[in-house]
Amino acid sequence: MKRRKFLKSLLALLGSTTLISFAYPLVRFVAPPSRKSEVKRLSLQKNEIPSGEAREVVLNNTPAIIINRPGKGYIALSKVCTHLGCLVEYNKAKGELICPCHAGVFSLDGKVLSGPPPKPLSEFPLRVEGETILIG
Ligand code: FES
Repeated sequence: MKRRKFLKSLLALLGSTTLISFAYPLVRFVAPPSRKSEVKRLSLQKNEIPSGEAREVVLNNTPAIIINRPGKGYIALSKVCTHLGCLVEYNKAKGELICPCHAGVFSLDGKVLSGPPPKPLSEFPLRVEGETILIG
């Protein structure tokens, strides 16, 4: 009888583990994401992004890029293409943001220059205080 009880317990444990391994990803998929990560700010020093250079960051769980545009100053843009969501890449030589998926091209202001993207890249609030860049 002890052996039978042990096997029943073992099967119950394995069944529970299997059920949890399927249920947990389903619950995480259905449940809304935590709101804690929505309010995030980032600060960088101006000398971290020289003129003409860019720095990739993550803002509010969104891949973003901060660009120091020669003669125009800093801008923080989402890297998520407004066509189908691929990540745009900074092309320093051309002074453009290019989407590798369907050749969408954006200006360094985030405006669509060519290709299928229907609207500009999202811009994050950014201000410069002294030597510090504050984003978000
Ligand atoms: S996803 Fe960027 S152009 Fe299509």
